[in-house]
This record gives sequence, C-alpha cells and structure tokens, in this order.
Amino acid sequence: MHDKLQALATKALASLEKATTAPALEALRVEFLGKKGALAEILGNMGKLPPEEKKSVGAIANAVRAQVEQALTAAQARVEALALEAELNGPKLDVTLPGRRATFGRRHPVSQTMDDMCAIFSRLGFEIEQGPEIELDWFNFEALNVPADHPARDMQDTFYVDEKSLTLEGKGPVVLRTHTSPVQIRTMLAKQPPVRAIMPGRVYRKDSDQTHTPMFHQIEGLFVDQKVTFAELKGTLDAFAKAFFGSSAKTRFRPSFFPFTEPSAEVDVSCTFCGGSGCRVCKQTGWLEVLGSGMVHPNVFRHAGYDPSKVTGFAFGMGVERLTMLRFGIDDLRTMFENDYRFVSQF
Ligand code: DAH
Repeated sequence: MHDKLQALATKALASLEKATTAPALEALRVEFLGKKGALAEILGNMGKLPPEEKKSVGAIANAVRAQVEQALTAAQARVEALALEAELNGPKLDVTLPGRRATFGRRHPVSQTMDDMCAIFSRLGFEIEQGPEIELDWFNFEALNVPADHPARDMQDTFYVDEKSLTLEGKGPVVLRTHTSPVQIRTMLAKQPPVRAIMPGRVYRKDSDQTHTPMFHQIEGLFVDQKVTFAELKGTLDAFAKAFFGSSAKTRFRPSFFPFTEPSAEVDVSCTFCGGSGCRVCKQTGWLEVLGSGMVHPNVFRHAGYDPSKVTGFAFGMGVERLTMLRFGIDDLRTMFENDYRFVSQF
C-alpha cells in the first residue's frame, strides 16, 4: 500500500510537470484527486487493513494528497503564465482600426410629430387625456350625436367587434374606435368645466390605400367653459398652425358638417411646399386640408352630463399621419407602418 501511494505521487508529479494547458491540468486533477480517482481508489481498499497499519497508511495518503495538490497549484500558475505569454507574443491588436459604431434606435416620425403637437398644445394650456381603443359604440357614435341609423356613420368605415364575445364595462355593442372624439365624452363625464384637453391616440378604420391605413393616429382637442367662442377656436388653431408649420403659415376655415359640432368647419393651412402659390401637393389650390373642428353640439353636452345652456365649447380633430407626411415630405402613408429601419432612420 505504501508503495502504491509512493508510485501514485511520483506519477502524478511527473504528469503535472509535463502538462501545458488548463484542460490537461483539470484532467489530471480528476485522474489523481477526483472522487473516483487513483487516490480515492487506494483509500477505498484501506478498510481491509489491520488498525495499526491503517493509521500509518492514512498519514502517508494525506501527505501524498498535500504533495499532489501543491504540485497542481504550482502547475496551474505555470500554465497561466504560459497562456499570458502566448497572448502577448501572439497576433498584435491593431489599435488604429476604426471602432464599430453602435446603431441607435430612433423615434418613429409619427411619434415625433405627436410629441411635438402635444408640446405645442401643452404650451397653450391643454392637458392630455386618453381613452380606450376598443370602445363602446355609444361613446364612439351615439353620445357624439350619431345615432345608429344616421347616414354620418357612413363617413367612417368601422370595425365592429362581435358583441357576444366581447363587452366593455358590461355594455355593448363594441367597436374599434374610428376617431379620438369618444375621449371628449369620457373626459367630460369625468371632469367638470372648464375642460381644456387634447386626446392623442390610435384609431381604426376599414380602409387601405396610398393615403389610408387601417390603423392611424389622431389628436382630438376640446375646450369647454362659459362663453367659449368660435373666435377662440380660430385663434387656437391658427396659433397651432404657426407653431407647427412656421410663423408664415396661414389658416382658412371652410363651412363643413360633423354631427358632434354646430357650426362645423374644415380647416386648411397654406401649402407648406409652395407657400400658397399652387403646386402638385396642394393640387394648385395653395391650401392643404388638415383638420375638422367646430362648436360642440348641445346634444353632445347633454350626453356628457353638461348643461348646454350654461357652457359652450369648441372641439377639433386631426390626423397625425397627414401632418407627418406634410412635414417630412412623405408621399406614401403605408411606408410608415412597414417597419423598415431604413425608412425610420431618415427622419
Ligand atoms: N372625429 C372627426 C373625424 O375623425 C374629426 C373631428 C371633426 C373631430 C370635428 C372634432 C371635430 O372634434 O369637432 O373625422
């Protein structure tokens, strides 16, 4: 047994001295010192020895283990030094090579426009309100003075949601909101006048061509107080147009129809491309149609729990994509939602 231990020590030390890599050292450690290694195997047979011999063999075994462990530590240090030297003498690092640039993400042009619009209206004293994209037909149409049989429903191609499979707040029918106007009602139901808020968000219509996508963004505006006038509507939207398009922008209000406002107006901005002299973008008119607006209809106030004899207000709604296209000169709306980084990285 003594001899076996001695032989093991000699063999282990010799092998450790020859090893040149970390994995080789690890293999040797397992071979000699591991749970099923050579030393463990010898010690496993110790049970058969008479007690006095057991003691001396145990002492030798411990000494051998210590010796081998020490040699292993020394060999590890040697191998590490070797590896470092090899690295230092190996192929040189070219510190003059240009670095690899990190690619940065970018805010989508629609998000940029929406943030800028919100910032402009914030400066004019408007708060930001939000509402659900899956909306009750009642908020989206009914409360906005558009009854079920009203022809104005045809103005918006609506995604109706099967009311049996989904109800909102225990009521139906349910639609994907076709505009941000329902947030007007939700805001008025939650707050007492004066209310001055804008409501940005996604809206959905069953529509798809060069100037329409089934999902797009709108910003709604609402101002309700005592004696709010059409003059304030004009002033607010003119201030917005100048802040957004530049101080030379002019606005024009044309009579129009929306069920939720009376009177209603379509608002044009002087063409940002030709400055009003007429070009391809404005179809030679010098004007670009950018939003709908008007004085809040009394029925809308009634549905929202406000007394139309006590308050008046104005509202407006505009498409964020349209303004984004005008601002950046984008000619196809659909490119905005194709998710191609080459598109987004231009803005
Ligand atoms: N909701 C209308 C639409 O999507 C836009 C609109 C027009 C909003 C007039 C308004 C408004 O608040 O007063 O076509």
